[in-house]
Amino acid sequence: MSGKARFLTFEGGEGAGKSTQIRLLANWLETQGVEVLLTREPGGSPGAELIRDLLLKGAVDRWLPISEALMLAAARADHIERTIKPALEAGKWVLCDRFYDSSVAYQGAGRGVGIEEVQHIQEIAFGDMRPDLTLILDLPVEIGLKRALAREGAKSDMEDRFERMERSFHETLRQAFLSIAEREPERCVVLDADQAIERLQENLRTIIMDKALLS
Ligand SMILES: Nc1ncnc2c1ncn2[C@@H]1O[C@H](COP(=O)(O)OP(=O)(O)OP(=O)(O)O)[C@@H](O)[C@H]1O
Ligand SMILES: [Mg+2]
Repeated sequence: MSGKARFLTFEGGEGAGKSTQIRLLANWLETQGVEVLLTREPGGSPGAELIRDLLLKGAVDRWLPISEALMLAAARADHIERTIKPALEAGKWVLCDRFYDSSVAYQGAGRGVGIEEVQHIQEIAFGDMRPDLTLILDLPVEIGLKRALAREGAKSDMEDRFERMERSFHETLRQAFLSIAEREPERCVVLDADQAIERLQENLRTIIMDKALLS
C-alpha cells in the first residue's frame, strides 16, 4: 500500500507513555504496508542529538529558559531539514516523539518564556511545519513521574533534567498541552494515558483509521 506520507507527533508530560506507544504504532503501521521513520526530539539528526545532551543532562538550573527555547529551535530546524523533510519526500510516514508543542508547553508555559515568544522563535528558525496529527497523552502528573522514575532506575545515562523540575512545573505542562489541544482541535487528539498499554494502543489505531490517514 502506498498512501500519502504523514507526519505524526506524540506529546505529553514525563512518563506518559509516548515512546512506548510510538514504537507500537510504528510496528503496526509497518504491518499495514507503511514505510515509517521513527524519530524523536530533542534530537533526530546528528547535530540535534548533540543539543539533546546539553538540554536533558546536568543541573536543573543549567540553562536560562530562553537559552533552552533557542537551542530547541536550533535543533528542530536541523531535524526538520535533514531528517523529517527527506523522509516525507521519500513517501515515508514520520512519527516523532515530541515536537513543536513540547517547546510551547515546556519553555513557553513551564519555563515562562511565553507561548507567543516560543512560537515566534520557531517561526524564525524553520517557518511553519505542522504535523498532520498530534497525539497528546494526558496523565496525572504523579503517575507519569512515578513511571518515569521506575524506568530511570534501570538506566545509567540519565536524561532526566526536566523530570527533576518541581511538581508545579509538571502541572503547568499538563494544562499547557490541554490548552494546545483546545486551540487546535483539528490537529490534536487528547488521549487518557492512564490505561493499559494495549488499550491505549488500540485507541491510537482507531484514531488513525477514523481519520482515514492510511488512504
Ligand atoms: N499505559 C501504561 N501503563 C503502565 N506503565 C506504562 C504505560 N505506558 C508506559 N509505561 C511505562 O512507563 C515508563 C515510561 O513510559 P515511556 O518511556 O513510554 O514514557 P514517555 O512518555 O516516553 O516518557 P518521557 O517523557 O520521559 O520520554 C516505561 O517504563 C513504560 O514501560
Ligand atoms: Mg520518551
